[in-house]
Amino acid sequence: MAKIVLFCLLSIVACISAQRITTIQLDGVQYFISRMNPYSPELNYFLAYQYCRSLGLQLASFETKEKVESMTQYLQNAGYSKYDFWTSGNRLGTGMFLWMSTGLPFNATFDYFENSSDAIQAGLLDPIDHNSNTAPQRTARDRSVSSSGMEKGCVILKAPSLKWMPEDCSIVKDFICEQTRCYYYNYGSIPVSSAQG
Ligand SMILES: *[C@@H]1O[C@H](CO)[C@@H](O)[C@H](O)[C@H]1NC(C)=O
Ligand SMILES: *[C@@H]1O[C@H](CO)[C@@H](O)[C@H](O)[C@H]1NC(C)=O
Repeated sequence: MAKIVLFCLLSIVACISAQRITTIQLDGVQYFISRMNPYSPELNYFLAYQYCRSLGLQLASFETKEKVESMTQYLQNAGYSKYDFWTSGNRLGTGMFLWMSTGLPFNATFDYFENSSDAIQAGLLDPIDHNSNTAPQRTARDRSVSSSGMEKGCVILKAPSLKWMPEDCSIVKDFICEQTRCYYYNYGSIPVSSAQG
């Protein structure tokens, strides 16, 4: 386990030092904020994701209330709250919002959506009709994919409040990358050789 952690740390440090980029550490998590780096372009959601990966990072996800508040406060105090920032949140595969970088649904214990109808779609607020089934998996299956698509499919921190807002994924924005997590799953991998059928 220690080896895996060390590998993760080394790969981040190697990428960052090679490209001379500025990252910050907030509550023990390393972030790359595109606005802080004068040579970093504004990008669409997909290229922002790719850019983060090229640094060994990933688009940021907000799985706890503390993390949202910390980042919002930092961006406001640092004078970046007049810019929109891509997060890893999207609803491209289904109508439901997921954090692409962690694979998890939005945390139902808090809601930072600007628009409550988006919060309902993310499963964070109950719709008025309490008879409907709002269990995440069911929502994800039932929701029509065509109604989401690229149109308002990806989640930004929207200036100046930095609340969550779905935006067209193709629009260029600033973005926030964060360090990747090390996973400790026991994958039970089977060693094979390429010659095996
Ligand atoms: C959901 O948010 C709460 C409040 O920030 C946090 O304590 C909890 O760990 C979060 N759940 C997950 C699965 O991250
Ligand atoms: C909230 O979302 C709904 C559905 O997408 C939309 O019709 C409405 O205009 C939005 N409201 C605001 C204030 O953006």
